[in-house]
Amino acid sequence: MSILAVQYIRPMDDGWTLPHLFKCEDGQTYVVKFINNRSGSGILANELIAYRLGNWLGLPIPPYRIIQITRDLVDMFPVLKSMEIPAGLHLGSLYYEQGTTLLDEVNLALCKNLHHAAGMIVFDHWINNWDRHVAESNLLYIPDQQKIQLIDHSDAFFGPYWDKEEFMDDRDKMDVFWGPLYEMFVPFIDSPDPFGHYVSLVEKISKKAVIQAVQGLPKQWNISREDVTELIDFLMCRRNLVRSALEELRDYFPIWREKG
Ligand SMILES: Nc1ncnc2c1ncn2[C@@H]1O[C@H](COP(=O)(O)OP(=O)(O)O)[C@@H](O)[C@H]1O
Ligand SMILES: [Mg+2]
Repeated sequence: MSILAVQYIRPMDDGWTLPHLFKCEDGQTYVVKFINNRSGSGILANELIAYRLGNWLGLPIPPYRIIQITRDLVDMFPVLKSMEIPAGLHLGSLYYEQGTTLLDEVNLALCKNLHHAAGMIVFDHWINNWDRHVAESNLLYIPDQQKIQLIDHSDAFFGPYWDKEEFMDDRDKMDVFWGPLYEMFVPFIDSPDPFGHYVSLVEKISKKAVIQAVQGLPKQWNISREDVTELIDFLMCRRNLVRSALEELRDYFPIWREKG
């Protein structure tokens, strides 16, 4: 189900896909990625599916909504016209005005939902979200709530272009990610079993829940039924790879390592 954009606000001036801010009929402001962004409409599907899966795992992800932008609204704003924004269904995430991606400047000890950082690492592996561990800009900290929120799953799964061949060739293998963003959370999540809770949740997710997460993509996003079926298989197969893949991270976690 979509909501209508009622007012254009401004560009975000940040990010590869150049999102823009819109106010919508529900009175909220959303960071909107357009169908004709430079990575293609596949990223909208990735974002929406990742939001639904992340929600299922109880992870903090801003609410994502399918946003309808009318021809009349585009025509009212030269900047939108010049980008040739098509009328139709785009995707927005609820805008956190105070959100910052400069995590180095944040006192993480004050953060109230740090335990979800372990879930983020599990989630990124399951959905093949390969760029967060190196790109600090894909995690928001909301100072007024003192909470982290996961954003930008544009490149997850088969990537922005839904190029499934390379993943299907080795569906029994899982790439293991490690980088500065994950490292920042080690002191807060290290324990005798830092990922156990979230790995168990991933292992338990039913095919029905995965099917629900991939349903109802707007036709305008051009994702074929076959590709959606492949994605369901991809997610179901990978559920059982996360636990052993994450074992490779044990050395980065002193308490967990001690236990091993
Ligand atoms: N819901 C949000 N609330 C506040 N800021 C956001 C939100 N979503 C994205 N941003 C900001 O916009 C930038 C670009 O968004 P992102 O989803 O990372 O797009 P891209 O795929 O272009 O990198 C982010 O790095 C962040 O600074
Ligand atoms: Mg980004």
